[in-house]
Amino acid sequence: MPYINRRQFLTLSTSTAASIFLSRCATAQTPQPQKILTSSLNKHTSTGGLLDVSLDARSTPLSLAGQQAYLLSYNGQIPGPTLEAQPGDSVRLRFTNNLSEPTNIHYHGLHLPPTGNADNIFLNIPPGETFTYEFTIPQDHPAGTFYYHPHRHGLVAEQVFGGLGGIFVIRGELDKIPELRAAKEVFLFLKDFALGADGRVTPPHHMSQMQGREGSLVTVNDQVNPSLSIPTGGLLRLRLLNASSSRFYRLTLEDHPFYLISTDGGALSEPVELTELLLTPGERAEVLVRGERQPGQYRLLNLPYNRGDMGMMGRGGMMGRGGMMGRQRNSNTANTQTLATLTYTGQVEPLPSPEKLIPLEALPEPQTVRRFTLNHGMAPRQGMVFQINSKAFDPQRVDTQVKLDTIEDWEIVNTGVMDHPFHLHTNPFQVIRRNDQPTPYLMWKDTVLVPVGETVRLRVRFRDFTGKSVYHCHILDHEDLGMMGLLEIQK
Ligand code: C2O
Ligand code: CU
Ligand code: CU
Repeated sequence: MPYINRRQFLTLSTSTAASIFLSRCATAQTPQPQKILTSSLNKHTSTGGLLDVSLDARSTPLSLAGQQAYLLSYNGQIPGPTLEAQPGDSVRLRFTNNLSEPTNIHYHGLHLPPTGNADNIFLNIPPGETFTYEFTIPQDHPAGTFYYHPHRHGLVAEQVFGGLGGIFVIRGELDKIPELRAAKEVFLFLKDFALGADGRVTPPHHMSQMQGREGSLVTVNDQVNPSLSIPTGGLLRLRLLNASSSRFYRLTLEDHPFYLISTDGGALSEPVELTELLLTPGERAEVLVRGERQPGQYRLLNLPYNRGDMGMMGRGGMMGRGGMMGRQRNSNTANTQTLATLTYTGQVEPLPSPEKLIPLEALPEPQTVRRFTLNHGMAPRQGMVFQINSKAFDPQRVDTQVKLDTIEDWEIVNTGVMDHPFHLHTNPFQVIRRNDQPTPYLMWKDTVLVPVGETVRLRVRFRDFTGKSVYHCHILDHEDLGMMGLLEIQK
């Protein structure tokens, strides 16, 4: 019986038989993995249909990667507590703002009302105040890895970069698949920090803010190069979340392919084999790893990626498509980093991979097609501003009005000099095309990368909830600097 999936697995592996895995000496010596990766992350799970939890945001002294640090955290932890609920559950989250500035919470990727005390990013919770979020996870909500983080416009990058964020798990159909139940599940919350010698977060220079701030301390669940163990024959389910405010992760695991089973909005219909996975801020992915190589240690690497830079601005100001587009993709702007180390320990009866996951249906043809252009502009006295359709965000202005229960195609065009991950709140979407190439397989997303000079077409159905919501670049500095639009969903 276990071999029922063997055939499919073999078919998949032959396709990468000759694939190029990075040679072991491609990177500088990395330190030995320190300790086993913490996988449970202090979880709060719903009981009797209710997830009842108290959360506070505060400034906390804690030890990060063996160094004393002063960061922002939920309940004194980085990442914040993992919240876990099931479709149909109610959530009551008492939130206290113990920061010295206003904040709020966004439930990234969850299908919730964007209004009232649900996923309302227009709320402003002043220092010292408590606010109770209350909502119900829809009965038909897909299982997946979601993300909660602050979303007070103008302060988002600073607060996320300071440490705030956590995982929100919805358990459902995907988790009931026998092969996945047998797999070992590990959450990887990827986040970078910039700490000064005093352990405080280094404030970004103006230029790095334009660029999207990054830090050189790259962590997985607040650890540097932790160890992940896999038994020979075992199956590992890695649940990855890019919780950085700007950093991209171009992931590869030495000698091991990833079997992608889930993206932002939940499961694929069947696993897809990948040798590399790019995860931009806000994106999530779940992959299976098979313990089928020679026992040893294999590094989970973050490969260099060039997401463009402000230095590319032409002499004459704006530079459009086809301007100075000659920059080399994937040229080295950073070194390869080791994120974690996979270590073989022990042996089990070989576990099969699932052959089928959850059936997906393509959304029908849209009623409306819209176009959104991402670019930078100049504003008097402000200098560079980040815009969508030549406008910077204004909470008083509705940019896009749509009707509930309709389907639209949005064409997102990047005419700027940097890559922008485009994110939509409230409803997930399907990526239909990238530069006129149809997407090879169906998946549910809420954040999609639109690289410099490229066009991505996404399809969305506005379901269940009316009210004001937003879409924006998930490089959070760009969002704070105006690359966000206001969407109103009307009855
Ligand atoms: Cu994760 Cu509007 O963001
Ligand atoms: Cu979001
Ligand atoms: Cu951006």
